[in-house]
Amino acid sequence: MGRIRFADRLALARAERAARDALRPRRVIEGREGTRVLVDGRPLVNFCGNDYLGLGQHLDLVAALQEGAAWHGVGSTGSALVCGHHAEHAALEKDFAQWLGYERGLYFGSGYQANLAVMQSLLAEGDVCVQDKLNHACLLDGARLSGAELKRYPHGDVEAAMRQLMSRREGAAMLATDGVFSMDGDQAPLADLALVARAQDALLYVDDAHGIGVLGPEGRGSLAVASLGAREVPLLLLPLGKAFGGQGAMLLGSTALVEHVAETARPYLFTTAPAPAMAAAMRASLKLVRKEAWRRAKLMSLVMRFRRGAAARGLPLQESFTPIQPLVLGDNASALAASKALEAAGFLVAAIRPPTVPEGQARLRITLSADHAEADIDGLLEALARAVNDSPAPIPA
Ligand SMILES: Cc1ncc(COP(=O)(O)O)c(C=O)c1O
Repeated sequence: MGRIRFADRLALARAERAARDALRPRRVIEGREGTRVLVDGRPLVNFCGNDYLGLGQHLDLVAALQEGAAWHGVGSTGSALVCGHHAEHAALEKDFAQWLGYERGLYFGSGYQANLAVMQSLLAEGDVCVQDKLNHACLLDGARLSGAELKRYPHGDVEAAMRQLMSRREGAAMLATDGVFSMDGDQAPLADLALVARAQDALLYVDDAHGIGVLGPEGRGSLAVASLGAREVPLLLLPLGKAFGGQGAMLLGSTALVEHVAETARPYLFTTAPAPAMAAAMRASLKLVRKEAWRRAKLMSLVMRFRRGAAARGLPLQESFTPIQPLVLGDNASALAASKALEAAGFLVAAIRPPTVPEGQARLRITLSADHAEADIDGLLEALARAVNDSPAPIPA
């Protein structure tokens, strides 16, 4: 390959994406009130956000953010290991560790960053990182960054995970999984994975981005549902941009594990610590998540209403009992057409295409929130039935 100009490379790549219906322009949200968003001057009901409990605009969070900014300023002024670690971060880490029975917490600016940090600091060449094939991209990227051997087992296949761990001859092993799979909404077989990890002396690491706040008593997440705790799952990640309605991610583990990550993870060391005000807002969110069980109850009743309605209309949903309700349509063009038809009917549901999901599995990733009303669900179902059932493209079984 000879010399190439960036302009030519980008033009080629763009043309190739256009030919595959894979262009992904960003939509501007001009205003928001709960699940109502303004896009191109039009109000739409949002069915693709992750604010599952409807806390993102709660006055307690807004007030905590404002007060935090008034006290501490907007930025943290430095890396956590230099001068960016504030009392608000420390308090949030303590709150989460106490809540879920872990020794230590470590607050990151994002879940993506946290996963890169965990893998890069704990794993090295010669180690193995065994992961579910449908794990979130940042778990996979983190393993690649670490230099460890990445092995991916078929989705949910515990025996395959066991075999991959058993084939290890040397080095340390980590078994990593989403608690709730982000694009499919189903739950990992955590109890079985915990047994496998123990038998194979592997560190079990769970990323519960879509389970925390939503599942279990007090919203304690996927571990509580599987009756697991810090002993079985020594390392747990809780991204806070979803049910907690904010930003950042909390890593929980033993003092030894967490302090090692804090002191050695390049994605933690070489970045400005998150805003202390956001940590204050997340403390306020934690109080609401624990206390307001009605949000989870309402959310689950909306999930059931949606699933009943979809079944009655012949819409082929995945097996998911979380607020993530994907409708797999296959090719990119079908997913885009359905998304456009829904928008014309007043609903915002993005078409999710590769590389976010595997080739040929483009979908509408419909997400529900406690902020939705029953009438929103019924309206969406009607629009979906028209958009999908009237579409000329075949729907895979
Ligand atoms: C399972 C999972 N882990 C991590 C992330 C990344 O978290 P963040 O958005 O805070 O970077 C996401 C989604 O964004 C996710 O679905």
